[in-house]
Amino acid sequence: MKIAVIGTGYVGLVSGTCFAETGNTVICVDIDKEKVKRLTGGEITIYEPGLEKLFLRNLKEKRLSFTTDLTEGIKDAKIIFLALPTPPGENGSADLKYILGVASELGKLLTGYKVIVDKSTVPVGTADKVKAAIAENYKGDFDVVSNPEFLREGAAVDDFMKPDRVVIGATSERARQLMSEIYGPFVRQGNPLIFMDERSAELTKYAANSFLATKISFMNEIARLCEYLGADVDMVRRGMGSDDRIGRRFLFPGIGYGGSCFPKDVQALVRSSVEVDYKFEILNAVMRVNEEQKLHLMPAIKKYFNNNLKGKRIALWGLAFKPNTDDIREAPALSMIDALLKEGAQIVAFDPEAMPNVKKQLGHVIEYVDNQYEALNDADALVIATEWSEFRTPDFEKLNSMMKKKVVFDGRNLFDVQKMKELDFYYVSIGRKLVGS
Ligand SMILES: NC(=O)c1ccc[n+]([C@@H]2O[C@H](COP(=O)([O-])OP(=O)(O)OC[C@H]3O[C@@H](n4cnc5c(N)ncnc54)[C@H](O)[C@@H]3O)[C@@H](O)[C@H]2O)c1
Repeated sequence: MKIAVIGTGYVGLVSGTCFAETGNTVICVDIDKEKVKRLTGGEITIYEPGLEKLFLRNLKEKRLSFTTDLTEGIKDAKIIFLALPTPPGENGSADLKYILGVASELGKLLTGYKVIVDKSTVPVGTADKVKAAIAENYKGDFDVVSNPEFLREGAAVDDFMKPDRVVIGATSERARQLMSEIYGPFVRQGNPLIFMDERSAELTKYAANSFLATKISFMNEIARLCEYLGADVDMVRRGMGSDDRIGRRFLFPGIGYGGSCFPKDVQALVRSSVEVDYKFEILNAVMRVNEEQKLHLMPAIKKYFNNNLKGKRIALWGLAFKPNTDDIREAPALSMIDALLKEGAQIVAFDPEAMPNVKKQLGHVIEYVDNQYEALNDADALVIATEWSEFRTPDFEKLNSMMKKKVVFDGRNLFDVQKMKELDFYYVSIGRKLVGS
């Protein structure tokens, strides 16, 4: 099938590449000329495990191409996916200017039946707005479908190729048929295509992300309580998670969630609630807890240095908001950097993928090094902000010999508390016993 994907960021590039991989001919459209030039030239623009190989193969087979020209992009497409940004607007609600802007353009370009699929995360009622924006300029037949995307950055290709489920909000039978056809190859093992109305599909995405964010903030509060009560959150987590009704995933405490989705989606759902005069009590608390949690290690760091971090050299492992991505949007590491710099500390950072993005955003207010150990040279303490696998079993001998002091503030609970005690580290983690006090 011929497909157009409008917006070639994380979601658009992954979706477009994966649709091409199952034999479709996909044209990705983006307004960013530089991005389109690089992609056309075979240069991948995001880091995502497994993506580059599929991207290059489909580019070579000419099933995947890129353009800045919307008219050319949609000319032969039966289905047009919108994978456009929906950043928070001034009041926290999702800003629909990209979606509705493109919808309006599409209205001027359509000449026959097409299905326009909203893949971006959008508030309830957006499908109706997209329909109206198209209908202003086009009186022919078309359908608008809500098909929220659930891929996780860092595992996006796997998630897209083998989704737990595909949610399709479509009331038109013709559109449902086309959506079944295009998603068939991805659900051969029996995972469901769940059909529903457009509004329910739109809300499903926000409900799912908000629930996951709630699980994280809940565990972060349990971890705080563990610190007060002398319990160990690892034990509590295991005890809780073995209950099927709770599940083992998303129970890991840390220094908060970040990324381009959870923060903005929770905020947007709260905003949608306000608009219908409903106060979503739980989600307001989830956001508050998360903001506090990003700086949860700061009091411990300040206490260790007797409230004087001036000139202290802090090694920082991890900048991305989570492992296996170069995405730093709302990353807890950035909040830590800000707080540490305000206290006068010097920061030497390492991240396997995210350093170019941080350099772009912060410039050289911190130092960047080429590997995790280089950051430790003469460091007064190590702070861990992202749970990259390579940080999990470091060479503690090197930590010992390179750091000025054996001090670790671990925002992701990577190390075993007992082991750190045996190795004689001063070790602070989240919701577990302090070692070396
Ligand atoms: N990133 C994720 O993990 C993820 C997961 C699920 C859902 N989502 C949702 O998907 C949507 C897209 O997210 P993303 O992370 O891919 O965003 P992104 O910022 O990475 O990519 C958006 C792309 O759209 C392009 N664009 C902007 N205006 C355009 C226009 N008028 N015409 C053509 N292209 C245009 C931008 O240049 C950019 O390349 C958002 O609603 C997001 O909430 C994201």
